[in-house]
Amino acid sequence: MSHKVLCAGDDVLVRMLERLEELYAIGGGAGANRVGGTEAEDEAHQLAAGWMREAGLDVAVDSHGNLVGRTGDDGVWTGSHLDSVPNGGKYDGALGVVAGIEAVERAGVGAVVAFRDEERGCTGSTAFVEAGALPRCFLEVHIEQGPVLEQAGAQLGLVTGVVGMVRGTRIFEGAPGHAGTVPMSRRQDALVAAAEYVLRVREVAAAIDGAVATVGQLEVEPGAVNVIPDRVTLSVDARAPDAHRLRRLAHELELEPEFALEPVTLPEAPRAAFRAELEARKLPLVELASGAGHDAAVLALAGVPTGMLFVRSLNGGVSHSPSELSSAEDIEVAVDVLTGALTRLAGHD
Ligand code: GLV
Ligand code: MN
Ligand code: MN
Repeated sequence: MSHKVLCAGDDVLVRMLERLEELYAIGGGAGANRVGGTEAEDEAHQLAAGWMREAGLDVAVDSHGNLVGRTGDDGVWTGSHLDSVPNGGKYDGALGVVAGIEAVERAGVGAVVAFRDEERGCTGSTAFVEAGALPRCFLEVHIEQGPVLEQAGAQLGLVTGVVGMVRGTRIFEGAPGHAGTVPMSRRQDALVAAAEYVLRVREVAAAIDGAVATVGQLEVEPGAVNVIPDRVTLSVDARAPDAHRLRRLAHELELEPEFALEPVTLPEAPRAAFRAELEARKLPLVELASGAGHDAAVLALAGVPTGMLFVRSLNGGVSHSPSELSSAEDIEVAVDVLTGALTRLAGHD
């Protein structure tokens, strides 16, 4: 894959790439480290607030910490999130905010939002929709985080819908004991019970078409090399493309949902605006569903006409990893398409 060689006229693109680097450098470590609720997320929001002011936008922070930059014609919103997973990639969430600032500045209409704490459960966007002052329309630009666009040779894709998910915690209890003296036949090892459950998570999800489930966090107590574990707490993230399969998955995994996002089909109207912009540039029309959760899904479920534009992920679509990659030329065309769609939906085309 050849990458764009930047020229002197590419000021806007250079600025966006520099901003993505600045966000990536916050928090240190091997990748993006701006977990929701940390000082690193606050720092990212402060940086973005400065960029919004430079773009001439009216900047405000709501009572949940969501950051909004508005023009005087702010019916149509765009944006994404600035938090990341631990050791995440450069583009997840950050691209939608950085591209949104450029597009709103260029279009001279709309508003751009950075929602708080998306990765751990869409906290900012959920609080935002519960507060009730909803935009007329919402557009989110986000990297695909999968291989479909790369395989199709398409720079951009139109999202048809967003997967449903439930997340919960399971606790396994046993009896503590000495690792050297308790015979194997007399043990109540909480980690062995948890391990059996982890294998069941894999089997249950594999048996439901289109479902996936992941155990990503495990806390073992007391956590000593020579003590039989007496308590294990683990996280489950379970996803399925429709409500029926999601309920079956949650039921079979005996999950009490602590966070749930219903599967949602995105409506045709905002997608048509993106489609018209792709057609105008003779770009291929690839439509695909999202297996990742997004703030866009929260807004769509709240009844806001919502569209999502995916930007091709390279490196086989890897995401939630420092290997996440999208190209400068794909980012450049995404901002053009977003600017056009914002203008259309604001009624200024
Ligand atoms: C967000 O990236 C999610 O799908 O977990
Ligand atoms: Mn994201
Ligand atoms: Mn993510």
